[in-house]
Amino acid sequence: MNNSVDTVSRDAWATRAGFILAAVGSAVGLGNIWRFPFQVGQEGGAAFLLIYLLFVAAIGFPAMLVEFVIGRYTNRNPVGALAQLGRGLWGYVGWVFIATGFIILSYYSVVAGWTIRYTIIGLQDGYLADGAAAESQFLDVASGLDAIFFHAVFMAVVIAIVALGIKRGIELAVKLLVPAIIVISLGMALYAFTLAGASDAYSYYLSPDFGVIASNWTSILPAAAGQAFFTLSLGMGAMITYASYLEEDRNLAEDGAIIVGFDTAIAFVTGLIVFPILFTAGVDPADPGPGAIFVSLAAAFGDLTLGWLIGAVFFATVAIAALSSAISLLEVVVSYLIDEHDIDRVTATLAIGGGLFVLGLPSAWDLVLLDLFDGFADQILLVLGGLLLALFVGWKIPDLAVGELKKGIGPIDSWGTLWVWLIRVPVVIVLVISLALGILGY
Ligand code: PHE
Ligand code: NA
Repeated sequence: MNNSVDTVSRDAWATRAGFILAAVGSAVGLGNIWRFPFQVGQEGGAAFLLIYLLFVAAIGFPAMLVEFVIGRYTNRNPVGALAQLGRGLWGYVGWVFIATGFIILSYYSVVAGWTIRYTIIGLQDGYLADGAAAESQFLDVASGLDAIFFHAVFMAVVIAIVALGIKRGIELAVKLLVPAIIVISLGMALYAFTLAGASDAYSYYLSPDFGVIASNWTSILPAAAGQAFFTLSLGMGAMITYASYLEEDRNLAEDGAIIVGFDTAIAFVTGLIVFPILFTAGVDPADPGPGAIFVSLAAAFGDLTLGWLIGAVFFATVAIAALSSAISLLEVVVSYLIDEHDIDRVTATLAIGGGLFVLGLPSAWDLVLLDLFDGFADQILLVLGGLLLALFVGWKIPDLAVGELKKGIGPIDSWGTLWVWLIRVPVVIVLVISLALGILGY
């Protein structure tokens, strides 16, 4: 399977920065800018932020290293990698990832389509300040043929980039997109700092109410675990796939820390943008649901001087961030077809991309279905995928995993042991509890 012909013909990153940028591009996306603020709002503000940050550091970071070592050790797609390493049922875990990636990208593309549409709305007519009008505008954008059209536009761009391959398509695209996201987000956070509602927003967002954690932990825990996996692109093999294109032995812990750091910083900064805007416009951040961020931000932009321009820049940034994440979601499935079935990249990309467009149609048609897909994928499938990988690497192949992690780092004996035990026990326990609560809550 892993013979020399395969290794030679398989794609790989062209530069050192290519891998980090692509992984950051995968991580930073709608998860940070759309999903994160509405989860914060729905789960009680700073209380959620605190648990989320804890989970990112204590579970997300070690879980990312789990995916990296599997990918780099096998140099294969997630299905092939698990089939190579795992005996019995473990060999089939990769299939869970393929299914999860399919479901996530189907509705992810729909939401990304809304961001394209909102960019155009800002540039053409500006946003509507009136809350009810903004709401009905959102319903136009987010359902029926309008949503389907922009879902198609977005998928077409994703397909085109993935079809071009690792070096020419993905690596070049993220080199341009990631720096753009960083610059625009920082600029917008500075702008939000000047708004009248900023200080109220900061205290809502930044000073946790421990009573909220105590009374709502059954919903905060699965939401925070799911959000941590979603935002870091974990639990469905995306990071396995990207690490499988690594040829040299890099310091994976260092790369992982950079990627987790960037993603967390962008989510955190997005909160510093979104909540001051909402508080200034007098919009309740607890207003739940996947549409709330769009309705309330658009209404807020409608209220602000030059809001059409700021809003268009904001939504365009979100669309760009979504693109580099969607690329990684599609790449998981495409890499499987290329590696295991010898299908050429262009054919594989077109076939899978077309299938994804069709699978996204229900979400484009009806927001309720989108919400169902999102909750299922996030709080159940991703957490399940992360749990299975933690169990597998922690208990079945710990020595192989530590050995792989050491390459490019040097002797890490005590750290390696700490990592394995973290994965074996605390990570597994938290994920089991989150998964159980997530299933009960669904
Ligand atoms: N991490 C991406 C985001 O935050 C979403 C994603 C999930 C991408 C899983 C790849 C795999 O938007
Ligand atoms: Na993210």
